[in-house]
Amino acid sequence: MDGNGRWARTRGLLRMRGYEEGAGALRRITTRCRELGVSEATFFALSTENYQRRPSAEIRFLMKLLKTYLIRERPMLMENGIRLTTIGDISALPADVQETLEETRSLSADNDQMVMRLALNYGSRQEILTAVRRICQEVKEGRIDPERLNEITEDSFAAYLGDPQMKDPDLVIRTAGEYRLSNFLLWQSSYSELWITNELWPDFDVEHLEQAVEDFVSRDRKYGAVLDGVSRENSPGSGGI
Ligand code: FPP
Repeated sequence: MDGNGRWARTRGLLRMRGYEEGAGALRRITTRCRELGVSEATFFALSTENYQRRPSAEIRFLMKLLKTYLIRERPMLMENGIRLTTIGDISALPADVQETLEETRSLSADNDQMVMRLALNYGSRQEILTAVRRICQEVKEGRIDPERLNEITEDSFAAYLGDPQMKDPDLVIRTAGEYRLSNFLLWQSSYSELWITNELWPDFDVEHLEQAVEDFVSRDRKYGAVLDGVSRENSPGSGGI
């Protein structure tokens, strides 16, 4: 969700206004994803680097906004059957934000129409490193046989990542014209299609999402094969963004 700061700056407003507007875009895009039949949508709300390096007043504001957002959007989640979940190191967030997250997560736990996943204090390299450490720990404690390490597969490895239920995203959308993944879902997006737009996140609206999805469905996904496209039924991915 990049470009909130730039959106505010071009209007002579404080960055915080950009984040408020960004939270509105998050609601619009989530609701439209649900209508379009997207099964999972993961939003990069705060990177580990953002959390550590942004001024503390900005982080405090973002935490307050997140808490307000989580409470305000509960009816939207429940009406649309959306289950909220997170990836990232939540334990570093303020206690009241963790509590609100937990309440929203358990309130929406039985919803089965779509998953809305917020990446908070998230970094993909850290996520992969944590997975490797967990596997090493299991070897150390005798739950994985050190003689059978070649039985660790891509699928079994993915179960050690932040959300074991997460499916690989079909499409990754980046706003504000940045041509980088910036430590987002590096493992999971190996075969994802990319859509980069110059729209700043607060301006990213349902018609931009629809444009990205329309373009996506017209693409041939080969997953390294030489065939002219692979049937969607047999392809990895999940209908996720
Ligand atoms: C990075 O771009 C974006 C963020 C650090 C935060 C994104 C957060 C929101 C959109 C708020 C809504 C979400 C929740 C869950 C409350 P930037 O805004 O720093 O952009 P810039 O590169 O233009 O400065």
